[in-house]
Amino acid sequence: MKTKILKLNQKKPQANLIRKAAELLKKGQVVAFPTETVYGLGADAFNPSAVKKIFSAKGRPADDPLIVHVASIADAEKAVKEIPAVARRLMKKYWPGPLTLVMSKSKKVPAVVTAGLKTVAVRMPSHPVALALCKAVGPIAAPSANSFGKPSPTKAAHVFADLKGKIPLILDSGSTHIGVESTIVSLTTKPAKLLRPGKITVEELRRILPVEIVTSVKKSERPLAPGMKYRHYSPKTPVLLVLKPTAEKIEKLVEKEQKKGKQIGLLCLGRYHTSAERVIIIGKTPEAAAKRLFDALRWLDLQKLDLIIAEGLPEKGFGMAVMNRLRRAASRIL
Ligand code: TXA
Ligand code: MG
Repeated sequence: MKTKILKLNQKKPQANLIRKAAELLKKGQVVAFPTETVYGLGADAFNPSAVKKIFSAKGRPADDPLIVHVASIADAEKAVKEIPAVARRLMKKYWPGPLTLVMSKSKKVPAVVTAGLKTVAVRMPSHPVALALCKAVGPIAAPSANSFGKPSPTKAAHVFADLKGKIPLILDSGSTHIGVESTIVSLTTKPAKLLRPGKITVEELRRILPVEIVTSVKKSERPLAPGMKYRHYSPKTPVLLVLKPTAEKIEKLVEKEQKKGKQIGLLCLGRYHTSAERVIIIGKTPEAAAKRLFDALRWLDLQKLDLIIAEGLPEKGFGMAVMNRLRRAASRIL
């Protein structure tokens, strides 16, 4: 299959191009599209055979459920059994935006979308292209548009690198604004549970409802972050995450590893002198770091290095989301 790329105006997507993509989706095809977080790979959420194509294109295990994207509360109501009052408050404040809510599913949502669960994850994206597409098609099931296990795509080129030949169309509106995936909150338990940290922080959510964090890695697991559970965003090159980095500490590590004959890539927050073979600066604020993180990991992974050393940042506010992705990418944490 030839993979076509269409350039779309980010702020005012061309109606004729949206129509083209919508037609493909209505015919049961998959289409990759930008959201404000990362690029998604969408299919008509109510068409099980279309949704199955997402899993095969990504190589995603069938037991990992998808997020249903909607352009209106009315469409969310179609996917959900009942919208709880607290969900309405969250929707009012954060939709459209990077907040995914897990609620009881309606009968209309096929089992393939929710991996057989009785719950469904729903979000209303704020990206004009994603919104226009959902408006034209109805609820769209979409995971991030990367191959399974790879960092999520923040550019159309990342989607193309992973899925070329496997999907018919990529809508390209440049780099995504936020850079890490949406915050996921499950409202099916009391207190509600934070399943994945994102741009909408737990501190913000707690002003509206009690939220329990279930994503943080326990202290005892810090030295080693083994197993599939934490290796979701992994480049092929091993990643060493340094939790409280200083220029001295990093440079010592770089030199120690270079003495073993290793070529080192450094993913750092700010600028300093280093003998590392490759250096990429992603910025000091969580916002800047999040935006460039996945692109930086993908780039470093192409540089034929033996080790990537990554600087950690403080795990509060939006920093928690960035560190969650870095911890999952890491093979070792210091
Ligand atoms: O920002 C985002 O959320 C992006 C864009 C494309 O919208 N999407 C995204 O999808 O990150 P994905 O599939 O890569 O991540 C969805 C996560 C998975 O970890 C999945 O297990 C979880 O949401 N999930 C989906 N449905 C769920 C459910 N019913 N209960 C619990 N977790 C669920
Ligand atoms: Mg994903």
